[in-house]
Amino acid sequence: MAIPIPKGVFDLLPDPPEKEPWKGSGLWQQVEREIRQQARLYGYREIRTPAFERTELFARGVGAGTDIVSKEMYTFEDKGGRSMSLRPEGTAPVIRSFLENHLEQHPELQKLYYIVPMFRYERQQAGRYRQHHQFGVEVIGSDAPELDAEIIDLLLDLYQKLGLKNLTLHLSSLGDRADREPFRKALTDHFLPHKQKLSTDSQERLERNPLRILDSKAAQDQPHIETAPSMLEFLSPAAKHHFEAVQEILTSLGIPFEVNTRLVRGLDYYNRTVFEITAEELGAQNSIGGGGRYDGLLKTLGGPDLPALGFGAGLERLIQTMLGQKVALPSPPHPTLLLIPVGEESRKACFLLASKLRREGLATDVELTGKRVKGGLRIADSLQIPYVCVIGEEELKTGKCELKEMATHTATEVDLHNLTKVILDV
Ligand code: HAM
Repeated sequence: MAIPIPKGVFDLLPDPPEKEPWKGSGLWQQVEREIRQQARLYGYREIRTPAFERTELFARGVGAGTDIVSKEMYTFEDKGGRSMSLRPEGTAPVIRSFLENHLEQHPELQKLYYIVPMFRYERQQAGRYRQHHQFGVEVIGSDAPELDAEIIDLLLDLYQKLGLKNLTLHLSSLGDRADREPFRKALTDHFLPHKQKLSTDSQERLERNPLRILDSKAAQDQPHIETAPSMLEFLSPAAKHHFEAVQEILTSLGIPFEVNTRLVRGLDYYNRTVFEITAEELGAQNSIGGGGRYDGLLKTLGGPDLPALGFGAGLERLIQTMLGQKVALPSPPHPTLLLIPVGEESRKACFLLASKLRREGLATDVELTGKRVKGGLRIADSLQIPYVCVIGEEELKTGKCELKEMATHTATEVDLHNLTKVILDV
């Protein structure tokens, strides 16, 4: 029996299944190209870190008590007996690399981006995968509120360029570390008298991290969440000032947002600004991107006390939303010309000719599977290849062929040497 793909992961294919067009590799390439252009436009440069790191990086960086680290990591022991984990998120590895490569010594602010797969052993659900891909940015070395607004602007402008509509920007502030303790205590005091009425998950969170109760989707938790104190009441003057500045800048950029005090992110490193962008189409897993500040993370990982911020945006959900909103995309690139040889001699000649044409810059393919002319034309049709030449003995003798234009069903006689010039000059 053929070996099936593991649960929760997927293949990207040049011709995706009809019911799952988001698995088309051509579509992914276009989105990735747009992302790279957008990153360049905003002054972000690419960083690539390995797919696995020492487990302790995530335990310390993301938080040993978070779901991501305690339940979802793909952890293994390497042959040297060290514990390694596949990257479940991108921030901790980027900070590790920043510290290791002394990027703080560069005169310019480090504005980095990445497009990489992440690995989380999650319960299978629509929009939740065990390998997903994120476009992420991290900015290290400044606490300017303009940067909080810049990364949000970058992401929303990208979504707009990709044609997305009906998105909501949720914004909040988690304050500074010192503000969190009194808030934590206020939440514990609020939830404790109702402990028995809370969901099992929330009862457990009450002990470990009462902030996470605010994130609960369980119906029985909702009345208690609605009446819970808000983090914004606990902000220090500095954190309050920063949050107000971020809101002001977003407003001056014309970016609408909703202050959502229930916004708690699933990773421990955040402080001050946190945000999430949701799309209606996606159902329960509706976050297409999220991030915020993590000013304390560098120090936690043994580095200097530098402020930092960033976001991660899931590509699967982004592409699914584009298709859900019927965003029109230009068709993926195919070869421009298909050569269909007739006979053994011609096959060899076509192969050489294709190699020459490719060097001249014309995307060319040769029908080498031995199909007849009709079969070759059918392939050109299904791959939307715009030009076809059928080449047999006669064409080899005269050095000329009929160049068929598939869209118009017209044919012109062309010198074989001239194909590139004729096609690319059209
Ligand atoms: P995150 O919220 O865990 O943040 O993930 C960011 C985005 O990745 C989510 O909004 C969602 O679009 C996508 N995503 C997450 N898990 C899955 C999954 N299992 N399947 C499909 N898509 C998923 C982070 O990872 C932070 N490192 C973001 C960040 C960067 N904050 C600061 N810098």
